[in-house]
Amino acid sequence: MRFFVDTAEIDAIAELNDLGMVDGVTTNPSLIMKSGRDILEVTKEICDLVDGPVSAEVVAMEADAMIAEGRKLAEIAENIAVKVPLTWDGLKACKVLSGEGHMVNVTLCFSANQALLAAKAGATFISPFIGRLDDINIDGMELIADIRTIYDNYGFDTQILAASIRTVNHVTEAARIGADVMTAPPAVIKAMANHPLTDKGLDAFMKDWAKTGQKIL
Ligand code: E4P
Repeated sequence: MRFFVDTAEIDAIAELNDLGMVDGVTTNPSLIMKSGRDILEVTKEICDLVDGPVSAEVVAMEADAMIAEGRKLAEIAENIAVKVPLTWDGLKACKVLSGEGHMVNVTLCFSANQALLAAKAGATFISPFIGRLDDINIDGMELIADIRTIYDNYGFDTQILAASIRTVNHVTEAARIGADVMTAPPAVIKAMANHPLTDKGLDAFMKDWAKTGQKIL
């Protein structure tokens, strides 16, 4: 499973990138707002830092304007994936931009039918939002499983990018189902290293080591 980091914070991306944990980055207008940075500048910095796809989202609502914004975003770097919303206009923009050879991430997907349309429009990535479905008491993982089945039934090569991941269990479940990629905030990726039995075991080892009076260095 490839890991994308869902943030526009350069320091957080760099820390995870140094550990080899970053296969790409996703941003959205809310994350750009939180960063306090100019979208073109910060996206360029992220693209220079990371080898994999960096999603940058259009903000127009109408297809022609989305296409124009997408082309401008794609000029930032070769690893830009233009992010468009899963609306009819977004699908039109996806078809044109993917036809021009740009990577396209179709975002705000909440149903299997939406995912089917995105694949037919040539999306490189489909982003089903797990956490936001869970927020309204709908099982986001069922959506990931449905999309996996449908894409495999027909051999679509659109990659499933499990998004709106809020917990470490979301990562495990999405990986078990076979999502191609997951995008999560840096804190969730770091929390994947935590286990209380690791802490307890390490504590016991350190106490016993102290009793030996030995040193390695
Ligand atoms: C994905 O591309 C989105 O930026 C993100 O995963 C949304 O997550 P949220 O629902 O926690 O805001």
